[in-house]
Amino acid sequence: MVIHSLFPDLATPGIAIGWAPLEDLQGTLDPSEWADIVSAAPSRQREFIAGRRLVKVLADTLELPSRPLRRASDRSPLWAADRRGSLSHCTALCAAAVGKHDAVQSIGIDIEMIGRIEPKLWPTLFSENERAYFNSLDPERLATETTVFFSAKEAFYKCQYPLTQSWVGFQDVEVMRIDDCTLSVTPPNLPPQPCHGPSIHTARLDEMHVATIMLMPI
Ligand SMILES: CC(C)(COP(=O)(O)OP(=O)(O)OC[C@H]1O[C@@H](n2cnc3c(N)ncnc32)[C@H](O)[C@@H]1OP(=O)(O)O)[C@@H](O)C(=O)NCCC(=O)NCCS
Repeated sequence: MVIHSLFPDLATPGIAIGWAPLEDLQGTLDPSEWADIVSAAPSRQREFIAGRRLVKVLADTLELPSRPLRRASDRSPLWAADRRGSLSHCTALCAAAVGKHDAVQSIGIDIEMIGRIEPKLWPTLFSENERAYFNSLDPERLATETTVFFSAKEAFYKCQYPLTQSWVGFQDVEVMRIDDCTLSVTPPNLPPQPCHGPSIHTARLDEMHVATIMLMPI
């Protein structure tokens, strides 16, 4: 199984990040993981299997012992005490990050197919400032940038959730470009909290897909 490297600059001896096509990640699960998904639709089982198998490969590279990744009643992943992590899947691909508990406090990762964030969704997903920024972009950049901003909010949500157990809405945070590879996320109406501190990193996987990641340091 070939796992493609992702965000190589962020991978340390305690953190492994990668992606692969869903079809390359099919196989059997730990029986307790399978129990969490046994009655789901086949397409959902397929992405769930891919996520668990990718996470296992990444944990192996960190020499972490094999542990099932169960699903909590709120659908968030239940990581074993010795590790942190996050995973994301779209129709064709899966990405994940795993870190040792003493290397990272929390991780949020997200992948998205470019071009699905249509303008009719903007008022729900984006603030006035974000929309004004999009309106300044040329059409070629627009599809990628709206996808990256949406993905950044999803990565932020997944990173903050294990720390706060809180729901965060799309209008509760504002994303800004820092440079080609990084973005910031801030709450427009409240004082920033520690979970807003780290930058969000973004990378292109291929012609069609972008990834974002947030790592909360120890
Ligand atoms: C939970 C959520 C972020 C998942 O994102 P998604 O694009 O639907 O799906 P992805 O494939 O990228 O990610 C799915 C994985 O996220 C993980 N996940 C689910 N809930 C989670 C949570 N509360 N915290 C962290 N990770 C979570 C799971 O591992 C899941 O995969 P699995 O069910 O196969 O284990 C999304 O469904 C959601 O509820 N979003 C609304 C809240 C939000 O994004 N706010 C943004 C403003 S900050």
